[in-house]
Amino acid sequence: MVVLVTGATGFLGRRVVHELLERGHEVRCLVHTPGKERMFSHREVEVQYGSIRDPVSLSNAFYDVEAVVHLVGIIRPRRRESFEDVHREGTANVLSAAKEGGARHFLHVSVIGAANDRSYPYLYTKWLGEQEVINGGIPYTIFRPSVLFGEGDEFVNALAGLVRLFPLVPVIGSGKNRYHPLAADDLARCIGITLGREDLKGQTLDLGGADRMSYNDLVSEVAKAMGKRRLRFHLPTWPMYAVAALSQGFMPRPPITTDQIKMLGIRSVAEVGEVERVFGFTPRPMEGNIDFVNSVGVADGIQMLLGSMPRHIRDH
Ligand SMILES: NC(=O)c1ccc[n+]([C@@H]2O[C@H](COP(=O)([O-])OP(=O)(O)OC[C@H]3O[C@@H](n4cnc5c(N)ncnc54)[C@H](OP(=O)(O)O)[C@@H]3O)[C@@H](O)[C@H]2O)c1
Repeated sequence: MVVLVTGATGFLGRRVVHELLERGHEVRCLVHTPGKERMFSHREVEVQYGSIRDPVSLSNAFYDVEAVVHLVGIIRPRRRESFEDVHREGTANVLSAAKEGGARHFLHVSVIGAANDRSYPYLYTKWLGEQEVINGGIPYTIFRPSVLFGEGDEFVNALAGLVRLFPLVPVIGSGKNRYHPLAADDLARCIGITLGREDLKGQTLDLGGADRMSYNDLVSEVAKAMGKRRLRFHLPTWPMYAVAALSQGFMPRPPITTDQIKMLGIRSVAEVGEVERVFGFTPRPMEGNIDFVNSVGVADGIQMLLGSMPRHIRDH
């Protein structure tokens, strides 16, 4: 029987696919943009094309599945897809297809801080997605990670762009907000371990990595990995909020959104030692594991400020 992965071609998805193959699972990938499956060797995985917004495409893809790993999520709304379309309605569609396909375990990636609070649309719709899963009728495990890091990520690479460009790194607000960065490879390992763990069915797990860090610590860690000494320059939140609101009006992919600025006020930390306790391994720290930031050059930093990710840094 097969494990179906949605969002398989994404930053986390490709790592999950690799992890599942290493563990000897048969893997079927739901591919949203045809062509992206080229990142996998065809002999290794089965590919089905479809959108989680299109139930018909899902019913073709979800036959005879033992488990489903649902990873699709968006960090900014798209022209034709709102947060709610993807996080709630899309998740409901995936659950129906998974049920019809016979899935006996539904592994769902949400986010720390997902809550029933409409003032944070990303977190609110991730919470709505969780509610669909909890009430969906398939034994589930929900993962709620803090920010993920690894080659191809958006967060740490964007910080690297700022460090590369500015001797004084701009930070919105005090920079004291707390994160608990987890390596995407480590979350993929947790997901791999969870398949076959009956005791993790029905559980919602907040997960962080080796260290809790403030945003200011993250800037220092990225600068250190790039061999730079950097001071910070703190920008007041409300004017930046206005700038973000304005740029959302005319930029298709603004470097930061009003929703992301609001979320800077949310603590994104899990219990210390949760990964060790539940999964039996020690997650890697950021220190020594973010050398990829050195591939961010000056031109890349400018491109990111203008709202697009260079393809050699993140290919989607
Ligand atoms: N990255 C983080 O720091 C972080 C932190 C906490 C939680 N999470 C959660 O982790 C999950 C994975 O995140 P990620 O960073 O790997 O995201 P990502 O790199 O943006 O990948 C998203 C994947 O979903 C696919 N997708 C988008 N819309 C789709 C649709 N309508 N139908 C089918 N597939 C669709 C994308 O395919 P196309 O590119 O072809 O559209 C892509 O493969 C998300 O649920 C996210 O909320 C991420």
